[in-house]
Amino acid sequence: MIIDSKFNNNMNNYKIIIDNNLCKDINNYINFNCKTLVITDDLIPSMYYENILKNNNTYLYVIKHGEESKNIDNFIKINEYLLENEFDRFDQIIGVGGGVVTDLSGFIASTYKRGIKLILIPTSLLAMVDSSIGGKNGINFDLYKNSIGSFYNPSLVLVDSKCLDTLDDRNYINGLMEVIKMSSCFDKDLFNIIKNNNINTIRNYNFEIITKSIQIKNNVVNCDPFDNNERKVLNFGHTIGHALEIMNNNLLHGEAVGLGMYLMTTSDELKNLILKYINIFNLKKDLCLDKNEILSKIKNDKKCELGLINVIYLFDLCKYEIKKVNYEWIEGVLSEINNWK
Ligand SMILES: NC(=O)c1ccc[n+]([C@@H]2O[C@H](COP(=O)([O-])OP(=O)(O)OC[C@H]3O[C@@H](n4cnc5c(N)ncnc54)[C@H](O)[C@@H]3O)[C@@H](O)[C@H]2O)c1
Repeated sequence: MIIDSKFNNNMNNYKIIIDNNLCKDINNYINFNCKTLVITDDLIPSMYYENILKNNNTYLYVIKHGEESKNIDNFIKINEYLLENEFDRFDQIIGVGGGVVTDLSGFIASTYKRGIKLILIPTSLLAMVDSSIGGKNGINFDLYKNSIGSFYNPSLVLVDSKCLDTLDDRNYINGLMEVIKMSSCFDKDLFNIIKNNNINTIRNYNFEIITKSIQIKNNVVNCDPFDNNERKVLNFGHTIGHALEIMNNNLLHGEAVGLGMYLMTTSDELKNLILKYINIFNLKKDLCLDKNEILSKIKNDKKCELGLINVIYLFDLCKYEIKKVNYEWIEGVLSEINNWK
C-alpha cells in the first residue's frame, strides 16, 4: 500500500509505503549512492537495519533506548559524528526505531547543514501510526517535553508491519491508544476492530490498523501541517495526558494519552475500550494521580494562554468539539479520575 502525503505549501511531499517484510528488500526502496547514517536505539533488533549496513558508505549511531535519550546531548553528539564523517547536505539520515528515534532523527535532519534528506523506518506501533507521519519532530529540553523541535517532512516513510512481531504487548498497547484516539474521532470501523478483539487477537489486524490510522493522520495533517486548526484534534487526551506523563516516569506516552482521553469524553464505549487494554498492566496502583499537581502541570503547558486552554472533548464516537476551557472546568473533569479502575 502506498499513501501520498501532499502539501499545498513549501513542505515537501513524500510517500508512505506500508508492507510486510520490506526491511528485507530495502535496496528496492532506498538509493544508497550517497553517505547514509542509520540512527537507532540499543533495543531495536538489528535485523531491521542490517541490510542497510551492507551498502557502501553506511554508518550506524546507536542511542540508549528510552525517552531520556531524546535530549540535547544526543543531538550534539550525533551532529559531531556527522561532521567528523564529513556528511554533506546531499547525504541522508535513516531513523530506524520508535518515536524517540524518529523524533530525534527528524530534528537532526532538519537542522544539519540546514536540512539533510530524512527517511524514517518506524518500528513501534506508535511510531508507525503517529510520530513518523506529519513532519513534527523534537527533543525534550529543560524538563519540558518536545520543547525544541521543528516541522520537517521526511522524503520517505517505510512501514514494515513485520517489525511489530518483536514489539512487546505493553509497547503495542501504547501505540494502540493513539489508534483508539484517531478511530474514536474519525473511523467507527477501525474503532470496532479494536473493540471486537483483545490482546491475543488484535495483532491479526496489524496491516488494517496501520493503514487506516496512517490514512487518518495523513488526511488531518495535510489540511493543517503547522497545527493551527484541524490538526488540533490529534491532541485529544494530550492536555491531561502530558501532565500525567511528566508526573509518572513509569507511564508511557500512549498510556498517558489514554487516561487523558478517558477524562475528556462522555462515551462509555470509548471509556470501556481504553480501560480494557490499559488495565492489562495494572498501572494505576503505582501512579501519582494527584489532582492539584496535574492542574499545576497543565498551567505550565505551552498551549495554555491567559488561563485558558483548548481541549478536545468527544461527546460520542466521531462527534467531538474543540473547546476553550478554564482551570475550574479541568478541575471538574479531574474529579472522575477515581473511576479509572
Ligand atoms: N512527532 C510526533 O508527531 C509524535 C507523535 C506521538 C509521539 N511522539 C513521541 O514518540 C515517543 C514515543 O514513541 P514510542 O512509544 O515508540 O517509544 P520508544 O521510541 O521509546 O520505543 C519504545 C520501546 O520499544 C522498543 N522498540 C521499538 N520498536 C521495537 C520493535 N519493533 N521490536 C522491539 N522493540 C522495539 C524501543 O527500543 C523502546 O525501548 C515520545 O517521545 C513521544 O513524544 C511523537
